[in-house]
Amino acid sequence: MPNLHEPISLRGLSCPNRIFMAPLTRQRAQSPGDIPGELQAEHYAQRASMGLLISEATQISPEGKGYPNTPGIYSDEQVAGWKLVTERVHAVGGRIFAQLWHVGRVSHVDHQPNGQPPVSSVAVRSKGFVGIKLPDGRRERVEASHPRALETHEMGRLVADFAHAARCAKAAGFDGVEVHAANSYLINQFLSGSLNTRSDAWGGAIENRMRLLMHAVEAAAETFTWSRVGVRLSPMGSANDLPPHHDDEELMLRVADELGKRRLAYLHLFNHYWPKEKWNGLYTEKLARAMKERFDGPIVLNGYGADVDAAQRDIDAGLGDAVAFGKLAISNPDLAERLSVGAPLSPWDESTFYGDCARGYNDYPRFTPAL
Ligand SMILES: Cc1cc2nc3c(=O)[nH]c(=O)nc-3n(C[C@H](O)[C@H](O)[C@H](O)COP(=O)(O)O)c2cc1C
Repeated sequence: MPNLHEPISLRGLSCPNRIFMAPLTRQRAQSPGDIPGELQAEHYAQRASMGLLISEATQISPEGKGYPNTPGIYSDEQVAGWKLVTERVHAVGGRIFAQLWHVGRVSHVDHQPNGQPPVSSVAVRSKGFVGIKLPDGRRERVEASHPRALETHEMGRLVADFAHAARCAKAAGFDGVEVHAANSYLINQFLSGSLNTRSDAWGGAIENRMRLLMHAVEAAAETFTWSRVGVRLSPMGSANDLPPHHDDEELMLRVADELGKRRLAYLHLFNHYWPKEKWNGLYTEKLARAMKERFDGPIVLNGYGADVDAAQRDIDAGLGDAVAFGKLAISNPDLAERLSVGAPLSPWDESTFYGDCARGYNDYPRFTPAL
């Protein structure tokens, strides 16, 4: 079984190691416009020795936004900002995918164009919380706003937004894109049997609930080819008030099957429950293994906190091929090098996960051995 330090080919894209950077929202894009810039370029370039960088979630349209200062990937200014990032990453030998995001109902009218309600598969409010920015600049957590259900005739426009975002990602120099279908955001709100009770072709039966994901992936592949499109799922996850449903397992297997047929770059599986509870009766090792078999391509595992040994054990057990690290990548810009020499790892500081400045973002030091 491969070691995390061994190279991996993602359907032809060579990555020097299997230690990937997980997508991490840090809410530091410039406002107005939700534009990334030098701050983000420095951040990602510092981490470029990781096998693959997956960008923070980037909204595909103004409607796709749910938190303050998250960057978008739909305007010329955002493309120019992301170009700075990809150029810096490539200049130091890295690879970077953009995570394409639409939050759906996990939003607030403050973030929506003209203060309109956020959209979802159905008009059911999430009991989850979102962030807004107060007029004095302070951030506050508030209840998500009541959404409206997307009309059937709007679905084509939504898919077109994914296609447009993929073209913007290409223009910005990204090596590929990851479609965010995890964590109870819009695509997950369509996948979910407990939420998506629509009676048109986009809801009800599993095949219908998968339609938005498959169209979004196809839209991205038109620009990038299948081999440069990944998908992120959080199997059996219930973040943002998405209750479990009796066909969740069957749904995950069908999704893995369909995506595998298309020979995507990778399938990225976030185990929401780990490290608190590794296999919790909903997400089981059996399901993880079955998804790996059904997808039959590179699987990226995630959710290990600081437990790198557990990550390697799951690779050894054949559950995946690479591991995306989130919080460890925040606090260890040189994570790949540190792990390869067994250097100590720095702890992360949750108080600076989200913020406006370089503090807690670009000032985590590289490891320097004591003389
Ligand atoms: C600050 C922070 C921001 C995150 N932002 C995103 C995001 O933009 N997209 C996403 O899919 N997951 C996001 N996540 C989830 C992480 O990608 C990852 O799944 C989670 O941190 C578990 O991995 P870890 O144990 O290696 O940290 C975020 C997590 C944290 C802590």
